[in-house]
Amino acid sequence: MESKSINILGIETSCDETAAAVVADGKIIKSSVIASQAKLHEKYGGVVPEIASRAHIEKIYPVIIEAIQRAKVNKDDINAVAVANQPGLTVALVVGVTAAKTLSFVWDKPLIAIDHLHAHLQSAVLGEKDLQLPAVALIVSGGHTCLYDYRSPLEPQLLGSTIDDAAGEAFDKVANILRLPYPGGPSIEKVAENGNPKAIKFPRSMLGQGSLDFSFSGIKTAVLYYCRGQDMKGEDKVDSMSKQEIADIAASFQAAVIDVLIKKTQRAAEKIGAKTVLLGGGVAANNQLRARLQQMCDETRPPKKLLVAPKQYCTDNAVMVASLGYHKFKAKLFADLTLEPKACSS
Ligand code: KG4
Ligand code: ZN
Repeated sequence: MESKSINILGIETSCDETAAAVVADGKIIKSSVIASQAKLHEKYGGVVPEIASRAHIEKIYPVIIEAIQRAKVNKDDINAVAVANQPGLTVALVVGVTAAKTLSFVWDKPLIAIDHLHAHLQSAVLGEKDLQLPAVALIVSGGHTCLYDYRSPLEPQLLGSTIDDAAGEAFDKVANILRLPYPGGPSIEKVAENGNPKAIKFPRSMLGQGSLDFSFSGIKTAVLYYCRGQDMKGEDKVDSMSKQEIADIAASFQAAVIDVLIKKTQRAAEKIGAKTVLLGGGVAANNQLRARLQQMCDETRPPKKLLVAPKQYCTDNAVMVASLGYHKFKAKLFADLTLEPKACSS
């Protein structure tokens, strides 16, 4: 007899996307709804927590309803409610967590707590039927830059993370310096297409020999000094720069960040003897990063298989939450109604 599929409703509100999705058996995407707040935060050049929280409150109900309707399921078909409860902006996370707890209580369905970063990692393995382990996973987002030793969806082991700015945050801040629109990552990538990545030698911070941690604040400051002079007293040259100069800065900055990401991922892969490399998080949408990582995987001996999250699941979404929720459901790893949002991963 054919066994019935397991449907998980996933909810995601950790930063500036209100998202809900229904995923069957961890991989069949029945619906994915995302309400982006990018327009609301654009003029501030970054996410404003209070604005994010209010927008989540406005959108959470319609987004969940739409996800359920588009999936053509009703509450009886849903086996559990999974929600990202960490890490992120607590005032944003609390909206998703409260909605998930309410549905879990009213529908009498299990509640599943999801680590947002572990969920990002899940987006990279979504369509893979023959995952060769161990894998090293690079998660690069607006709030985090992490390397994991991935041997199962339930217990990725953190190998290294950023000691200051995240890679995406550096993209956003540099875009701000260059007066490029928010979010900075896609803006810098676009402008960099016409730039020379070797025009300016920005620093590549590798930290200690063998370190798997990251630091991106130095490169951000280097771009700032380049535009405003070492003592920050010189005039801001950005407004008088040509399009080509801006493109060269963007391309040189992007190349420096990618060099560091590739080098550290290669180090981590060697350390754990990885057969596969996983790439996820918002910055994974970057074509240069994807291409350079592919090159690294092809050139190392033995070559490694690269699995990259599909573009629509690189940035925040609830498919990744529901997909990981399935694995936790199978392992009976449930949360209770005391679940709280947390700014950092526990
Ligand atoms: O994963 P995500 O949606 O949210 C967080 O969990 O933080 O990542 C958002 C980040 C932003 O910093 C954005 O600038 C960056 O991902 N990003 C990119 C690209 N698309 C989004 N960075 C570089 N290149 C891109 N194409
Ligand atoms: Zn994210």
